[in-house]
Amino acid sequence: MRNIILTGMMGCGKSTLAQMLGEQLHRNVVDTDTLVEEKSGITISQIFAQYGEEHMRELETAVCRELSQQENLIIATGGGLPLRQENRDYLRSTGTVFFLNRDPSEIYDTMDKSGRPLAQQGKAAFLQRFSDREPIYRDFAHVTIEDFSTPEHTLAEILQKMEVQP
Ligand code: S3P
Repeated sequence: MRNIILTGMMGCGKSTLAQMLGEQLHRNVVDTDTLVEEKSGITISQIFAQYGEEHMRELETAVCRELSQQENLIIATGGGLPLRQENRDYLRSTGTVFFLNRDPSEIYDTMDKSGRPLAQQGKAAFLQRFSDREPIYRDFAHVTIEDFSTPEHTLAEILQKMEVQP
């Protein structure tokens, strides 16, 4: 079975929704941040602090290459993973990509910012980062999700839109 891939800004709910989808569909859930941490043996914050963002993207590419050989997964992706075209290509070819397009201002106000190095520069920088990335998320995704009233509603929208995907 083809993978289900969740993309969108940090804090938009990818990990929560991935867990809910895994339970509902009885499929394994993976998180690219966790896979990067396992691969490197250090945390995401340490990767950024010691080696910088480019190294993070390098590790993400290695993870995407491995995931491109696997199926039947629910994949929660790091918010910056689609910045590299090759990362988008690897994952997009394995399944359906959903962009969780939650309002970035609401995300910023409610998100746990600890452990997220790119959420430390204030709200204006976060909103700017979102507008820079939005076209990339749209390019990566097959489907955009817009209902974030409750996690259950978001889940229902994903399940409903899955049915109309090839
Ligand atoms: C990042 C998002 C994070 C993590 C890293 C960088 C980003 O993942 O990969 O802190 O560039 O948006 P989440 O989207 O799971 O927070």
